[in-house]
Amino acid sequence: MSEATASDYAALQQQYEFDVYPKRDLVLVRGRGATVWDSTGRQYIDAAGGYGVTSVGHCHPAVQAALARQSERLLACPGTMYCDVRARLLEQLAQIAPGRLRRTYLCNSGTEAVEAAIKFARFTTGRVPIVCAMRSFHGRTMGSLSATHNPKYKEDFGPLVPGFVHVPYNNLAKLEAAITEDTAGVLLEVVQGEGGVNPGDPAFLLGAQRRCRDVGALFIVDEVQTGFGRTGRLFASMHDELDPDIMTLAKGIAGGLPLGATMCADGVEIPTGRHGSTFAGSPLSCAAALATIGVILEEDLPAQAAAKGDALVARLAAAKLDRVRDIRHRGLMIGIQLKEKVTPILLALLERGVIALPAGSTVLRLLPPLVIGDEELNTVADAIIEELSTPAS
Ligand SMILES: Cc1ncc(COP(=O)(O)O)c(C=O)c1O
Repeated sequence: MSEATASDYAALQQQYEFDVYPKRDLVLVRGRGATVWDSTGRQYIDAAGGYGVTSVGHCHPAVQAALARQSERLLACPGTMYCDVRARLLEQLAQIAPGRLRRTYLCNSGTEAVEAAIKFARFTTGRVPIVCAMRSFHGRTMGSLSATHNPKYKEDFGPLVPGFVHVPYNNLAKLEAAITEDTAGVLLEVVQGEGGVNPGDPAFLLGAQRRCRDVGALFIVDEVQTGFGRTGRLFASMHDELDPDIMTLAKGIAGGLPLGATMCADGVEIPTGRHGSTFAGSPLSCAAALATIGVILEEDLPAQAAAKGDALVARLAAAKLDRVRDIRHRGLMIGIQLKEKVTPILLALLERGVIALPAGSTVLRLLPPLVIGDEELNTVADAIIEELSTPAS
């Protein structure tokens, strides 16, 4: 296999993968920090961070060491047994979470964390309706998909789970009107990611929380994308001192390994035996998460994300790019709203050695590792500015 070329690997995968992803012509084989290499040896700056997963960068040495240690000790432990590394992670999460969040259900992904939140909210309140926002994204399994707004993700998969109501994001009056004494929970992203990088207004988020308290509904924040320093605070809820009843986490939690978490305040309940998952809280993922959170705290990556995000956005704004309508960001969660479709720009950036993401059809999204170096950040800015300085074709 060592003789195989990039196109060999692509062809091999095309032959056997039941592919659900629109592919880019790139075979990744190695990563370090904010840099990844393809099978031809070409290097790229990963400003997509593997969909916002590589908070501490690719193959962080602390994560590697934790994985190596754990792989010598224990790889599997069912939820029905206690596990040392899992216990330590649960304690760590309780120590760093906002507000009253104290106990955590561990799972394997963001969508699972949201599924659990929906079930916990319905069980705890004995109510059904969950109020969500337009342009929201909460995952692709049937419950999370029902909470997600964009019809593009939902078409042809119905019937979906009933009981989800969608109101315009940042419209407090409409949100308040939708929340009644029958509402089980309100589920919101603090900054909408897939929906275009739309930061929530403090008045909207705090108003949602207050209204939940008034009617006995649970206030659920989805921090799958915003958690673990991405927005310039350890959790985006901390910008406005939100005090959620449930918070969902995944992506940047474990340095690239699959792990999700549903954190709950006291009062959120579900009897044992009513929920679970075979791989949930795998010892390997827990060890990676402990190491990742250690790096995030020791290197104060939230502060770094805030400073780096501001610096990058300042450079882009100073370039006064005609093809850009708006730039929205919180820390290193950056959305560049274009006046045109984003896909050709993403492909052109790839040619320039920068991997970036879309958020909808016209937003260029950057979710680089929080450890990205200043020079790499400048290279990303240069590539975007050069690309968008040419006249639109
Ligand atoms: C806010 C939010 N919630 C949930 C999810 C789903 O997470 P996963 O892809 O790990 O299932 C995502 C993924 O992008 C997300 O951004």
